[in-house]
This record gives sequence, C-alpha cells and structure tokens, in this order.
Amino acid sequence: MTLLMKGGLGKEFLKAFAISGARSLAVIDRDLPIAVQACGEIRDAVRQELGVPEDEISEVNAWGCDVTNTDEVRRTVEDIGAKFGGSIDILVAAAGMISKDLDSSQVFVRISRSLSIRSITLRG
Ligand SMILES: NC(=O)c1ccc[n+]([C@@H]2O[C@H](COP(=O)([O-])OP(=O)(O)OC[C@H]3O[C@@H](n4cnc5c(N)ncnc54)[C@H](O)[C@@H]3O)[C@@H](O)[C@H]2O)c1
Repeated sequence: MTLLMKGGLGKEFLKAFAISGARSLAVIDRDLPIAVQACGEIRDAVRQELGVPEDEISEVNAWGCDVTNTDEVRRTVEDIGAKFGGSIDILVAAAGMISKDLDSSQVFVRISRSLSIRSITLRG
C-alpha cells in the first residue's frame, strides 16, 4: 500500500467526519480564504461520496482565527457556540507550519512560531 501525505490534514479529517455523519463543522484557519475554500471542498466531498441533496449536507462554516492568539481563539469558540449551539464534541488540532527550508537564517524564528502554534493547541 502506498500512502501519499499532502497538506491540508485538518480538511481531510473534516471530510472524513462529514462523510461519516457529522452535521456541524467549523473550519478555522489563520487565513480566512483558506478556510472558506476548505468548506467548499468538504461539501463537495460529501456530495460526491454520499450523493445526497444539498440540504442534507453537513453545515460547514469558516472562521478566520490565529490559534496563537488566545483572545481570538476565545472569540472564535464563542462564535462557533452561538452558531451551532451545544458544545464542541471533537477538536482536530492541525494548524501548523511545515518548514521546508531548514538551512535558512530564519530557522529559529520558524521553529519558535511552529512551537507556539502547537502549544496553544495543547492549552486549548
Ligand atoms: N502533511 C504531512 O504529511 C504531515 C505529517 C506529519 C505532521 N504534519 C504536521 O501537521 C500540521 C498540519 O500539516 P498540513 O500538511 O495540514 O499543513 P498545511 O500547511 O496544509 O495546513 C496547515 C494550515 O494551518 C494554518 N495555520 C498556520 N498557522 C496558523 C495559526 N497560527 N492559526 C491558524 N491557522 C494556522 C495554515 O494557514 C494552513 O492552512 C503541521 O504542523 C505539520 O507539521 C504534517
């Protein structure tokens, strides 16, 4: 078996949850357009996989949020609660940075930024 890993792990997890029946999905990214595009791809995946009509597809909404910013995370979680109600059942913590250029002079800045993204993930 060959497994090819590419970017967008969070989106792939959410596709799998949506196809498995999750009804309310919140896509968060630092860059809102990325989150918006992911919502469309998740809906397309459900439509193709299950062949269900538009109104039976999970509700998928996008939020722009930098997960290293505690205040933004709080506000976003409150917004999501107001939109969907209830509590968050599953959190897919897949925000991150992949450093392809580890020889660059920016390596320590990149590692530090990468760790800060993961640490808020652990605290949150
Ligand atoms: N793809 C792989 O094969 C693989 C394997 C092992 C681990 N990982 C790790 O998993 C994580 C996700 O990988 P990916 O391949 O999905 O990367 P990706 O770059 O496709 O997606 C990561 C997303 O996180 C977003 N992001 C970055 N900083 C953010 C922040 N502060 N707040 C909110 N969103 C932010 C980016 O905009 C991007 O859309 C990375 O930390 C990566 O190192 C990936």
